[in-house]
Amino acid sequence: MLIRDPMPFDLRSGFRNAGPNFTIVSQPKPTLHDIVIGQASLVEHAPDAIVIIDESGVIRLVNAQTERLFGYYREELIGRPVEILIPTRLHRRHVEDRRRYAADPRVRPMGVGLELFGTRKDGREFPVEISLSPIVTGEGKFVASAIRDVTERKAFEQRLRDLNAELEDASRAKDQFLASMSHELRTPLNAIIGFTGTLLMKLPGPLNDEQERQLGIVAWSARHLLSLINDILDLAKIHSGKREMVFETVPVAQVVSDVAASHAALAADKGLELTTQVAEDCEFATTDRRSLRQILLNLTNNAIKYTQKGSVRIDVHSARRNGRSAIVLRVSDTGVGIKPEDQARLFGAFEQFDFSHLGQFDGSGLGLHLCRNLAELLGAELSVTSKYGEGSAFTLTLPRER
Ligand SMILES: Nc1ncnc2c1ncn2[C@@H]1O[C@H](COP(=O)(O)OP(=O)(O)OP(=O)(O)O)[C@@H](O)[C@H]1O
Ligand SMILES: [Mg+2]
Repeated sequence: MLIRDPMPFDLRSGFRNAGPNFTIVSQPKPTLHDIVIGQASLVEHAPDAIVIIDESGVIRLVNAQTERLFGYYREELIGRPVEILIPTRLHRRHVEDRRRYAADPRVRPMGVGLELFGTRKDGREFPVEISLSPIVTGEGKFVASAIRDVTERKAFEQRLRDLNAELEDASRAKDQFLASMSHELRTPLNAIIGFTGTLLMKLPGPLNDEQERQLGIVAWSARHLLSLINDILDLAKIHSGKREMVFETVPVAQVVSDVAASHAALAADKGLELTTQVAEDCEFATTDRRSLRQILLNLTNNAIKYTQKGSVRIDVHSARRNGRSAIVLRVSDTGVGIKPEDQARLFGAFEQFDFSHLGQFDGSGLGLHLCRNLAELLGAELSVTSKYGEGSAFTLTLPRER
């Protein structure tokens, strides 16, 4: 074991003989005295600078880290006022602080929010955190301070703050750009979709098979791009606070049956049963109709997309949440299901999970993210329960009144 020669500890001299004085010893083991205050001690090797001062503010003991942090040899510090370690501009305040502390000494932990500074022998200032502990001995009262250089942490925090501000600016600029680009982005796409449609309907003239196949791809891709742009624009609008919510009495049953009707063909194409059930007391809610519809459309579309066989069901019943009357809309399916570890990420932007063994699903991974954002604006909650391989249920819990 490598320890320093045991030597008696003396507050008056501090560690005056602290040269490189190591000896390899196997016996005797250090005593408690050595461990706590001797030169092989916790104090001497503490990662923080430890400075012990007496009642008049004179430094009586420092450890190795104090020498490193402040750039003094300990001989230069012992016997000097502690203000030697503090920037001159703060001396007067420090003397007062010291008096106040002496009148009411108690343990003060680090990080109590004080802006404190140390100064090195070369005059360089640096931010510190300091904890204080009173020590009462037969030789008198002392105060031990543990001092930590927080330059790096402060710089890191500042970098984070700067970065955050930059990100906020960039994000606001992006949202504003997107929100104002909606027209410019959609107009040409609508032209592409429109003219591809007329070509496919062979209005301008006949097409050969290959032309028809390729135009089919153009039409599908354009529709996909339009739905992606719509989702991104919706999100940008929500984030920039430009999405308007109109709270009014909404016929929930009507919205549900519209959504089901618009997906009937899609479900039938896949041989899926699509059913709805709305409890009698859930006919109406005070909410934003467009958002409610959009959420239900997305959930129903997903349920059909990620179900190979079986059924998709939309059911609506009432419940109480936090003492308030709520309407619970649930879209459940007998589809591929979602692994527990994926469920937490489901509502993030661009999250899609690997079902490659089941074939290709198109989409961009924005639907649920958008739904969650809309639900928030409605004061509603969107959650999922799912069993991998068996099916999923997405639940929107909507306050009945605003
Ligand atoms: N009913 C469901 N059953 C199984 N997995 C689902 C279901 N709904 C969503 N998922 C999974 O969650 C992912 C995210 O869904 P989300 O609706 O956000 O994106 P998407 O459907 O892939 O694309 P789009 O942006 O076109 O909606 C999906 O890619 C899919 O992996
Ligand atoms: Mg989707």
